[in-house]
Amino acid sequence: MVLLCPKPSVLWLLAVVVTARVGKAAGKPKLIDYGAAACDSRDNGVSLRPSAAASPDGPEPGDPAAAFSVPTLDGEFSYQPGALRGPLVVHAFSNKSGFLECMWSSESSLVSLVEELPDSTQVLFLSLDDSALSDALWMRDQLQRVAMHRNKEVLSRLHFSPVPVFALGNWIPNVLYYWRCTGRGCVFSQVVFKSEGWNMPIIVKRLDARYDWLMTRGDPKSYRLMEAGDGCEPSPSVAGALAWVSEGNCSFFTKVQSMAKSNASGVLVYALPGNPIQDMNCVGDECDATLAIPAAMVHLEVSVARALEIGQPVYASFQNTPGALAEMGWFIYPSFSFLNWQAQWFDFYAALQTKLQSPAEVISVFDKVQMHGEDGAVATVELPIALSDFDALHLDASLSCPGARDSSCAHWDHAVRLLVCCDPGGPSCGTELGRWVTAFRRGIGRWLTDVTPLIPLLDSNRCTLTMKTVPWAMPWVVSLNLRFSVNNRTDYDVKKLRPFRVTPLYSGGTFDKNYNKRYRPTEVSVPASTRKVELYAVVTAHGYDDNGCGEFCVTSHHFLINDVFNNTLTFDSAGTPLGCTLRVKEGAVPNEHGTWLYGRGGWCDGFQVDPWRTDVTKQLNASESEPNTVVYFGLFQGKDPNPSKEPGYIIMSSFLVFYK
Ligand SMILES: *[C@@H]1O[C@H](CO)[C@@H](O)[C@H](O)[C@H]1NC(C)=O
Ligand SMILES: *[C@@H]1O[C@H](CO)[C@@H](O)[C@H](O)[C@H]1NC(C)=O
Ligand SMILES: *[C@@H]1O[C@H](CO)[C@@H](O)[C@H](O)[C@H]1NC(C)=O
Ligand SMILES: *[C@@H]1O[C@H](CO)[C@@H](O)[C@H](O)[C@H]1NC(C)=O
Ligand SMILES: *[C@@H]1O[C@H](CO)[C@@H](O)[C@H](O)[C@H]1NC(C)=O
Ligand SMILES: *[C@@H]1O[C@H](CO)[C@@H](O)[C@H](O)[C@H]1NC(C)=O
Repeated sequence: MVLLCPKPSVLWLLAVVVTARVGKAAGKPKLIDYGAAACDSRDNGVSLRPSAAASPDGPEPGDPAAAFSVPTLDGEFSYQPGALRGPLVVHAFSNKSGFLECMWSSESSLVSLVEELPDSTQVLFLSLDDSALSDALWMRDQLQRVAMHRNKEVLSRLHFSPVPVFALGNWIPNVLYYWRCTGRGCVFSQVVFKSEGWNMPIIVKRLDARYDWLMTRGDPKSYRLMEAGDGCEPSPSVAGALAWVSEGNCSFFTKVQSMAKSNASGVLVYALPGNPIQDMNCVGDECDATLAIPAAMVHLEVSVARALEIGQPVYASFQNTPGALAEMGWFIYPSFSFLNWQAQWFDFYAALQTKLQSPAEVISVFDKVQMHGEDGAVATVELPIALSDFDALHLDASLSCPGARDSSCAHWDHAVRLLVCCDPGGPSCGTELGRWVTAFRRGIGRWLTDVTPLIPLLDSNRCTLTMKTVPWAMPWVVSLNLRFSVNNRTDYDVKKLRPFRVTPLYSGGTFDKNYNKRYRPTEVSVPASTRKVELYAVVTAHGYDDNGCGEFCVTSHHFLINDVFNNTLTFDSAGTPLGCTLRVKEGAVPNEHGTWLYGRGGWCDGFQVDPWRTDVTKQLNASESEPNTVVYFGLFQGKDPNPSKEPGYIIMSSFLVFYK
């Protein structure tokens, strides 16, 4: 039997966040964590086992959601397939998680839910614990308090169930319990305290400090715990031990730094009585300093404090207990922003489905083909004969994973390039038609990219297309359609301009002090009957030198025409903390592993690279007899790059496109 996902407008997903961990590797903070989500309507139709309900583990990601209803504080919430306009997010709380406690206590996290939850989205809040009734009342109070002065409307879309997940009697527990993550981070993070005077260890939840601090690993080693007051000043007694310090009197950063100076092996900061666990992070300049000892926040544990007071030795170790979770991607830090981003993406995806309904001549190039190794994915296609009949060309590309779940997805954010060859052995064979960047361990990316100016590259009946990334990347499953379409011509039949020639300009290279030395001016003459000329460039900056170049530094790219016209592309948001989150509404995949949130040099993880297009008609001499010059150069902070170590690199395809 074939089951269909809900209509694109009725996407749903499920979320439970258990905990987050972050470590630092190869200069880039690396994140490990989850939430859970179900049907992402990745495919419009999915074939399944005979009945999803009969599966021991319940539905898989991408399966349709069956109807259900749950009691809520206001009555009942019912879900009927097809009855909702937008996404439904199901979030399960547990106060056994320091991560969730913080997410639900932090003002900025709650405000982000209240102010930024897309209007289309409803959220059902559940609790995993026996205390579901008091949890539901508390969650509602937390959100009502914050919503009152900001956005009361949102409350009508938030539903709170007093029934614990294990007593729901529908498929939701199956998903929450069995979408089990196998990675290192799928955990309730805890600290285990032991002391000779106690019969039993004391186990408490913890929340590790935020990146870019070093995180506690699931390190079974036991540390002596030593009291160090508020930890604001170095304290020699903590050398080699885990420092036990109170919150307050100075920043979290200062505490960890002063304990590091005292040679402590790590720091446990306890919340003052009545205070929630907080997300310990650096602020401003603090973030420039590197800290090399782990730090985590816990509640004040009375027996621990008393034992330390009377000088009875206490030992502590870190443990991670697996939780049940899955596919809403990774919540890097305790904030509802991650839930909003996923919901924004669902709205993007529903709108994309609508766009894909519009009429077009669709040529299927890859249909769930594995892209791997040196060769990547390769296909030869027949093209419609009269390209000149079409006004637009869009690439409809998606990157998914070998398995249904994100755990089967490839690591890292690598550039994926689509190369076209319509003239084997000819000069334009191997020209780049499109570029994307892989979504670090998430399989939901799909993008529609306008590459109309490059239509002349496809001027042949048969073209071979190759899509590939670095050969060492784990495999991706790619789909690609070329969508040729006709604009509405009623009023501008006559004025309609069509590209007829594409002249390649420059490509990139190693972004070092010699970067600009290799570019020589190109002479270009404008063919007769040209009515418009466009500069078209696809530029991305990668690597990480001492200035963070090119991925995380602001570079600018200049195409100087006739020595006068300085056409400039600047990557202003490179290195900003949330630059790529702003692109989720346009299709950047949210909640990836890695530092997907940071702005980057011309790209985002899990996103298409948008071509940069500028009309340069007026900058050129139209007469064929008068040549024009074009030269390119790339700068870092307005100057030639000058890295002192491991330079980055620029990947660039650039063209002049002539229209008539
Ligand atoms: C969560 O647990 C902490 C201590 O572990 C407690 O102070 C707090 O009141 C609890 N919150 C709820 C909603 O139960
Ligand atoms: C903060 O500093 C004051 C004065 O040194 C001290 O009395 C107090 O105990 C400190 N607070 C904490 C939470 O350690
Ligand atoms: C920390 O360790 C270093 C190197 O072993 C030593 O020089 C320094 O005196 C120690 N500092 C403290 C406060 O123990
Ligand atoms: C085409 O143009 C006409 C008149 O401008 C307009 O009424 C119609 O909605 C347009 N159709 C589309 C598909 O854009
Ligand atoms: C066109 O060419 C003439 C002569 O070479 C030159 O003086 C003029 O500046 C050029 N115009 C533009 C727009 O570059
Ligand atoms: C082009 O503009 C950039 C800054 O936008 C400047 O640094 C560069 O010197 C300019 N180049 C020329 C040749 O005008």
